[in-house]
Amino acid sequence: MSFFKEIKRRRTFGIISHPDAGKTTLTEKLLLFGGAIQEAGAVKSNKIKKGATSDFMEIERQRGISVATSVLAFEYNNIKINILDTPGHKDFAEDTFRTLTAVDSVIVVIDVAKGVEEQTEKLVEVCRMRNIPMIVFINKLDREGKDAFDLLDEVEQKLGLRVTPLSFPIGMGYEFKGIYNIWEKNINLFSGDSRKNIEETIEISDLSSSELDDLVGESPASNLRDEIELVEGIYPNFDKVAYRSGHLQPVFFGSALNNFGVRELLDCFVEIAPTPRAKQSDTRLVNPEENKFTGFVFKIHANMDPNHRNRLAFVKIVSGAFKRNTPYLHVRHNKKLKFSSPNAFFAEKKEIVDISYPGDIVGLQDTGSFKIGDTLTEGEVLNYRGIPSFSPEHFRYINNADPLKSKQLAKGIDQLMDEGVAQLFTLELNGRKVIGTVGALQYEVIQYRLEHEYGAKCTYENLNVAKACWVDPEDDKNDEYKEFTQVKQRFLAKDKQGQLVFLADSLFSLQMTQQKYPSIKFLFTSEFN
Ligand code: G4P
Repeated sequence: MSFFKEIKRRRTFGIISHPDAGKTTLTEKLLLFGGAIQEAGAVKSNKIKKGATSDFMEIERQRGISVATSVLAFEYNNIKINILDTPGHKDFAEDTFRTLTAVDSVIVVIDVAKGVEEQTEKLVEVCRMRNIPMIVFINKLDREGKDAFDLLDEVEQKLGLRVTPLSFPIGMGYEFKGIYNIWEKNINLFSGDSRKNIEETIEISDLSSSELDDLVGESPASNLRDEIELVEGIYPNFDKVAYRSGHLQPVFFGSALNNFGVRELLDCFVEIAPTPRAKQSDTRLVNPEENKFTGFVFKIHANMDPNHRNRLAFVKIVSGAFKRNTPYLHVRHNKKLKFSSPNAFFAEKKEIVDISYPGDIVGLQDTGSFKIGDTLTEGEVLNYRGIPSFSPEHFRYINNADPLKSKQLAKGIDQLMDEGVAQLFTLELNGRKVIGTVGALQYEVIQYRLEHEYGAKCTYENLNVAKACWVDPEDDKNDEYKEFTQVKQRFLAKDKQGQLVFLADSLFSLQMTQQKYPSIKFLFTSEFN
């Protein structure tokens, strides 16, 4: 198959949701429909129950060994689908944000009873800011939930989206009869039998035909007619260009657990979802069809198998073909590297591949030369931007608990920070190290991993910081900036890139500082490169 055809048949996306909405279940059902797995239960949930580090460790351990859940690839109707896994737990939201830099579109799963939840709002906002095409899947229609129109309103208002339903439920909960597929103009009747894999659909080209009454009953049929009329009156017609530019979001209804409405979603997805998109670098826009390879690291995964200590760097291919044993430029290090065993990912396994195409993810064995955001090319010097680093919410001093292992501790901290587990700040005043994280769970993870992977021990000490922000002076020679760095020295630190960070002890003091030094910008996100 030609290079261009390979690009055209790729769809790389992520599924995002608030925990428990049904992301894992939907992922699994998509794989079942794609024939990539034979039975339910094959996809491991990446769910972390409330604050339980052991859960996280177990998940990490399983992943570290199989790595299969980070990228799930399968073929459906000759389309190569790559699903990128996104952790649902809020403490690991940063990992999800970074993964979103590597997807070409997303599916948002919403629980019909709970509606739009907090984590969904945050993740969708990131997608909206980047104009990532989104499809919404409203799940658990077999349960009582919110009225479909109310939910569509909620999605529009809370998520700031412009929606158009492409399927519509006929009743819900006990009264759930099935789904009218607006996109294909047919009906799929609900039987509640989750074992059936391929549903039979019944063509309904004319909603006014009495066939509909025979199928679902008179009253549900007449309700459906009214509702579809309303849908046509209220919502815009589906428009592929608007969807692909992030300005219109189609909505599907179903029940992932019951395999219901999933085929409709998948069939429409492969037809409308974008092929690999062009990506902006610091020098130019790079098109997937360009024949020279470029790609970037969006995730680093430690191998938790004690027999194999190396890490896997996940590279999204942006342009050209990635070939095994070919020297590529590691732009940050200005060094050529060759990879003898790049991994490609399939539903339940990873395999060494000779060639991969734009949209694909390759896993490269790494002994510490990569960090998140690193770019690989065939020689051109460019960097992919836009992998954000968020202002942490939690701060603690990190101390060495075993003086004989200080080297191991330094190496461990260094590598964990490159993986993006947390951020390290060094205080200007006394050189003490502070770990900043987005969620409290990371502290236990860091402690556990330092001990088990690097043989180092650490303790933490509380530090009174409410917010960290990166300092961007208009002019680092002016008096205002000089005064700021002198007066606030106690609250200043450098991040790993050497950028100055202000550690405000309260939101009030941050506000006061902003007012006092108006020429200095205080930023809440920074970029990795
Ligand atoms: P997540 O990855 O988004 O966190 O959600 P996950 O798929 O794990 O689903 C969360 C719970 O919701 C699971 O139940 C799952 O079985 C259930 N679920 C998913 N889709 C549907 C649906 O269409 N209808 C109904 N009624 N339930 C659904 P659980 O009891 O938490 O887990 P489990 O023990 O059943 O695995």
